[in-house]
Amino acid sequence: MAFGSLTIIGVGGMGQAVLRRLGAGRRVLLADFHEGTLADVAAAAAADGYDVTAQHVDVSAPESVAALAARAQSLGLVEHVVHTAGVSPVQAPVDAVRRVDLLGFALVLEEFGQIIAPGGAGVFISSMSGQMAAGRIPAEVEAALATAPVEQLLALPFIAGLTDAGTAYSIAKRGNQLRVQAASLDWGARGARVNSISPGVISTAMGQQELAGGSGAQMRAMVEASATGRLGTPEDIANATAFLLSPDASFITGTDLLVDGGVVAALATVQRRAAEGQAG
Ligand SMILES: NC(=O)c1ccc[n+]([C@@H]2O[C@H](COP(=O)([O-])OP(=O)(O)OC[C@H]3O[C@@H](n4cnc5c(N)ncnc54)[C@H](O)[C@@H]3O)[C@@H](O)[C@H]2O)c1
Repeated sequence: MAFGSLTIIGVGGMGQAVLRRLGAGRRVLLADFHEGTLADVAAAAAADGYDVTAQHVDVSAPESVAALAARAQSLGLVEHVVHTAGVSPVQAPVDAVRRVDLLGFALVLEEFGQIIAPGGAGVFISSMSGQMAAGRIPAEVEAALATAPVEQLLALPFIAGLTDAGTAYSIAKRGNQLRVQAASLDWGARGARVNSISPGVISTAMGQQELAGGSGAQMRAMVEASATGRLGTPEDIANATAFLLSPDASFITGTDLLVDGGVVAALATVQRRAAEGQAG
């Protein structure tokens, strides 16, 4: 049974699935940058009997995130927070990817880490592209992504120097995983847990836009070569989120759960077999 409220940041495909999976019978705070989407999702949820409050937020603006955290606190104990807000390389230029996916994520993680209730938990959505970037980023860069003060993140030379939205997205998503790892100590000091989820290709508005973009054919090929051979659904992510927020995951914090239908495993295995073939 829930003892406090659920905050969902980003009410696109994944945020809406989380609302329907976890929102019944408790206070839910919905937040998004897009006023129209937010109003529509909140109205539909209220009509279906959910107890929802809506607040506009720009996750890349510190004062906006602070106001959201204050609103969450005004609803009582902040038991669960699920951060799904983001932009993809097809949707946004490099600067927006940096601000929303790297800075915004870090701001929400920090603000909610200061108000999460004891016994509470958070799930923050990263991406399998972050897992793919792991190992390709120098150790000192990873260290800075994990622990640099949030207000310095965008000024880090390797972040400020990025010119390609796709590369910025991968680095931001790797940064998300590292940041959650580091933040788990602060959340733990409050008796709370925090984890990230790295989705594969999920059939939301964002996922469909990416599939229709320049890398779409490559993404489809990766999905077809994976063990499940299918796109993910928003419910696949909501189910993993429900697990990580539940008491079943009480020994799990500071980690990243890959929910990609086996894409990363297939890619790694194909590469290893190719390397073995060349060596043999
Ligand atoms: N869909 C996929 O295939 C996929 C794959 C891997 C990772 N992800 C990640 O999952 C998360 C959720 O994606 P989704 O598929 O639900 O996308 P979506 O586009 O359906 O929803 C994202 C929501 O974030 C909101 N948003 C954008 N900028 C914002 C800002 N500055 N402040 C507040 N809200 C903002 C948008 O208005 C939108 O409602 C994102 O972080 C995305 O990078 C998605």
